[in-house]
Amino acid sequence: MSSLPEHNVRDLSLSPSGQQRVAWARRWMPVLELIRKRFTQEKPLDGMAFTGCAHITAETANLALTLKAGGARVALCASNPLSTQDNVAASLVADYGISVYAIKGESDEVYNESLLAALGNKPRLLMDDGGDLVTAVLTKRPNLIDDIIGAAEETTTGVLRLRNMEKQGVLKFPVLAVNAANTKYLFDNRYGTGQSTIDGILRATNVLLAGKVFVVAGYGWCSRGIAMRARGMGARVIVTEVNSLRALEAVIDGFQVMPMTEAAQLGDIFVTATGNIEIINAEHIAMLKDGAILCNSGHFNVEVDTASLRRLAVSAREVRPALTEYQMDDGRCLYLIGEGRLANLTSAEGHPASVMDMSFANQALGAEYLLREGKNLKPGVHDIPPAIDEQVAALKLKTLGITIDQMTPRQVEYINSWQSGT
Ligand code: NAI
Repeated sequence: MSSLPEHNVRDLSLSPSGQQRVAWARRWMPVLELIRKRFTQEKPLDGMAFTGCAHITAETANLALTLKAGGARVALCASNPLSTQDNVAASLVADYGISVYAIKGESDEVYNESLLAALGNKPRLLMDDGGDLVTAVLTKRPNLIDDIIGAAEETTTGVLRLRNMEKQGVLKFPVLAVNAANTKYLFDNRYGTGQSTIDGILRATNVLLAGKVFVVAGYGWCSRGIAMRARGMGARVIVTEVNSLRALEAVIDGFQVMPMTEAAQLGDIFVTATGNIEIINAEHIAMLKDGAILCNSGHFNVEVDTASLRRLAVSAREVRPALTEYQMDDGRCLYLIGEGRLANLTSAEGHPASVMDMSFANQALGAEYLLREGKNLKPGVHDIPPAIDEQVAALKLKTLGITIDQMTPRQVEYINSWQSGT
């Protein structure tokens, strides 16, 4: 036991099932596997302290092992109190010697303590998912700033927070917006969140989606994936938006679009994925039908106003795992999945590994890039270099066994010219 790294996980005896889970995910992450093989030989991150704040899942475990293969000294903490897979956390500590501070269901206090514990690694590279780790460095561990080469941010909400930090001049090191990579948001946010959110709703409720009125808040990359998959299962899908262009896209994609005050009266199932607050608020809660099911797939648990739900309810009880029934004083029962935290991680297993393969390939190559180029990047948010994005797409196609055409020299010449027209 004394040779184990520092950690705070639920139960190390869970590690055998965690190890199996990590191995299963590895099978579906061939791009990361290619990077792991190269990292094992080249050790590009040799001796580098790396702290990651992420959903502690089997996919994240494979990223951590890739970074470790590259020579990094890795510490991890959770990016959400309810998304940790406890057996995976145990396996990372017991089988792979990685420091993990994450327990599914941890209090906000333990969550915040874990950020600081993981920063005890004295990281030179950071990985964040939602911006809490960078915030902890800036507000509670500013002494670490000078040694930090850079960070990478995984999700839309985190990038937004970082851009706000940059605007206010408080961001002191470069951060790569992994979310901005095409090989991230076009697949992870759309197809990953789309499928796994439906999976979360089904595991929590086992309701039939066919014929249900299914309200999706937002028509961004996550929400359009959810809307697409809900329609595929036969639901009648309504979209709400605040952005005219995205609302128009939803209309032309064939969805009904209306304000939430109208949708609230019609919906059987509601999913928020906007990155914004109070999407379903007290006014909407008062309008919901008896039996309405609410859930969120946006990063933070602020999209469904759960405080109002609790305040307006006369009683609450857990009726199935990760499903709370709120009885209202007018007799209606409303149901909330996973406390309003991201449903795909609280009641399902998060994105499928083959999608995280691309997101985490960007993370691994991003860490290598930061180490090489970080000193030349100004403090602030930077997009993932297009060459990394293209490399990930090309590798993914290769591992899928798909070849594509190459332009002929005449085609290259043509698309770079302007002289020949009609
Ligand atoms: P996005 O920026 O592409 O889309 C968000 C959409 O919500 C925008 O079209 C915006 O106009 C809309 N919106 C904002 N306020 C609204 C309101 N009051 N009512 C209706 N629509 C509103 O963002 P993306 O990439 O789709 O991410 C959404 C959220 O999901 C973020 O918090 C992100 O971090 C999170 N996320 C969650 C994942 C998961 O595993 N559940 C995976 C990836 C991202």
